[in-house]
Amino acid sequence: MTQNDGKAESGRKAAMAEIADLVARVSAADRAYHGEDAPFISDAEYDALKRRLQELEHLHPDLARADSPTRRVGAPPADGFGKVTHAQRMMSLANGFAREDVEDFIARVRNFLNLGPDQPLALTAEPKIDGLSLSLRYESGVLVQAATRGDGVVGENVTANAMTIPDIPHRLIGAPEILEVRGEVYMTHEDFAALNLSGEGKVFANPRNAAAGSLRQIDPAVTARRPLRYFAYGWGALSEPLALTQFDAVRRLAELGFQTNPLMRLCHDVECLIETWAAIEKQRASLGYDIDGAVYKVDDLSYQARLGFRATTPRWALAHKFPAETAWTRLERIEIQVGRTGALSPVARLAPVTVGGVVVSNATLHNEDYIAGRDSTGAAIREGRDIREGDWVQVYRAGDVIPKIADVDLSRRANDARPFAFPTHCPECGAEAIREPGDSVRRCTGGMTCPAQAVEKLKHFVSRAAFDIDGLGAKQIEMFFADPVLPIREPADIFTLAKRDAAGLTRLKNREGFGERSVEKLFAAIEKRRRIPLARLIFALGIRHVGEVASATLARHYGSWSALVEALERAAPAAERHVAAEDAVARERAAAAAEGRRARVKEVRDRIWSEAPDPGAEARAAWADLVGIDGIGEVLAVSLVTAFAQKAERAGIDRLLAQISPLDADSAPETQTEITGKTLVFTGTLERMTRAEAKARAEAMGAKVAGSVSARTDLLIAGSGAGAKAAKASELGVTVIDEDEWLRIAGAG
Ligand code: IVH
Repeated sequence: MTQNDGKAESGRKAAMAEIADLVARVSAADRAYHGEDAPFISDAEYDALKRRLQELEHLHPDLARADSPTRRVGAPPADGFGKVTHAQRMMSLANGFAREDVEDFIARVRNFLNLGPDQPLALTAEPKIDGLSLSLRYESGVLVQAATRGDGVVGENVTANAMTIPDIPHRLIGAPEILEVRGEVYMTHEDFAALNLSGEGKVFANPRNAAAGSLRQIDPAVTARRPLRYFAYGWGALSEPLALTQFDAVRRLAELGFQTNPLMRLCHDVECLIETWAAIEKQRASLGYDIDGAVYKVDDLSYQARLGFRATTPRWALAHKFPAETAWTRLERIEIQVGRTGALSPVARLAPVTVGGVVVSNATLHNEDYIAGRDSTGAAIREGRDIREGDWVQVYRAGDVIPKIADVDLSRRANDARPFAFPTHCPECGAEAIREPGDSVRRCTGGMTCPAQAVEKLKHFVSRAAFDIDGLGAKQIEMFFADPVLPIREPADIFTLAKRDAAGLTRLKNREGFGERSVEKLFAAIEKRRRIPLARLIFALGIRHVGEVASATLARHYGSWSALVEALERAAPAAERHVAAEDAVARERAAAAAEGRRARVKEVRDRIWSEAPDPGAEARAAWADLVGIDGIGEVLAVSLVTAFAQKAERAGIDRLLAQISPLDADSAPETQTEITGKTLVFTGTLERMTRAEAKARAEAMGAKVAGSVSARTDLLIAGSGAGAKAAKASELGVTVIDEDEWLRIAGAG
């Protein structure tokens, strides 16, 4: 580091500290002024603070905080709530249903932490409240912001509403400087029944919907009249730890004035967890509020820190759900919905029935095999009983998930009931719907010419994790798709909307619910998205199997749009060979099965692959590089390469790219480390950290972890007994380090 760099760095640090201080002070003043009608500084002082904050944010735009009061402008926008980027992501929980799931969870945790059989592992067990999560941010003990979970990254700012909930303190004494409390907003059964009877507002299906509907009111005075409650069970960003254990941290929240759940217990083995779960379930009916399971959390917070997170869930917690609830009703008809990837999904339209307190009138039927009474391998399910329109069916519902059909009552089947004929053509566009070998789903072949697929793809394109265009949600997409003058039929159309047909625009401005201002705002929001992070763009394309996590991985690996496209084009012949060979394998297996023979899959595959034409070295290398990325499997790779190789789909992508500029991927995570952007390989046995933990740590620090050593490897971590890989690494001149050095890098030495 040069002297100048040093100076710049210390300047940045000072600016960061001053910004934090100003954000806290301006927010506190805002709250006192707007929320409590009790200003504690003069208007002039307030203006000076805010101006200084704006000045610093202008000088250091990368330090400007999402929660800065300079970004909050008075009341929430009329078309909804302001958005809040959570300082720390709001995660969800992995689910377990059976005892084995709990045992597996404990085994995974022990394994990850490398705990010996004699080393204790304590866990908390507490009810899983069926409400909606809310994050409360306190700065200097003052509640400055309340935000819903949203997609986990960005939630809605519901500060004014949350402040009307009696369980939520406005001020804390003795709290850390920065404290984000996480917990659940809920409504008791009694209050829910009274609210529905009162005739105020609409009638809600269950306490959870009532709580959500009440919190998300534009007018906080309405929320204030709703009997909402809040249990605190966790935290997000913190300036200092609350305690050393989960149990004590929750106790500390209680001491600070939060309601915490009285049923929380501390356990030391699976037996105790299951007993607590059973005891909580026993009390379920008499608790007076809805719960849908128990949550187990590793008690030791240093263990929690080591375990960390998967894509959306912590490794240190498990939601152990109660068994699903069921009810019988009549299946009136089976409808087919066409999804974004063309999948034909059968939906059961039911005579409405209450299942676990919720009225259900739709359920999923999965796919044609499920309706016919067999699984994807052809084996019987429900002892082979098929499902027909008019049948009596058993519906079950577990927590939030879409209700499913579990069984059918043949004794009540009408004599003239006919087996359901699954369509072989798309009900929306008439194109042929085919089932590829090995796929359990039938898909419409219409692509973007199928209106159902096109609309669903567009909805995906504008969704939160994709282009996330303000004012252009699913509802508006449906409207624009059907618009005869200014249609949006494909993603590129969104960006040409403003340039098209002036008469159409005037019409749009005059349309009900679409005033001059909202059209302008929409166009501004679209303009803003012309520059888009690479990962969002990849995800937005809606390619089958390419989810949010894979998109981020691909963006990080290839770095730029042009590098990605080039690599996919190069890999195309290899992907084609892969598809052809695997199709041939599937055909041989099916033929063998039809003749009652068992095909030896490995032999068949080896033979077919050895006969497949060589796609050439360049294609092989590009393909190997793609499927060599950690987290990118062959199925995903085929889907991705094929999407770019298909003419019509590619032309749509090119039209889109003519309108936008993808930003190169930022390979740097939030903080730079000495292994950021490097490719690491682990070999041999690590004594003090499991492989899983080492990999998770390396990735969290922005490194890639590969399985084998190549010229691209930057660092080999050789544990004890390292063999061939270490030899190859030194041959290639790759730096090799031992476990001690690794522990130092990982900050665990
Ligand atoms: S802990 C990092 N504890 O369940 C994970 N969540 O299905 C933080 N929930 O989004 C969650 N009761 O809204 C936790 N005792 C409890 C909970 C709980 C209800 C909700 C929470 C979460 C969802 C996941």
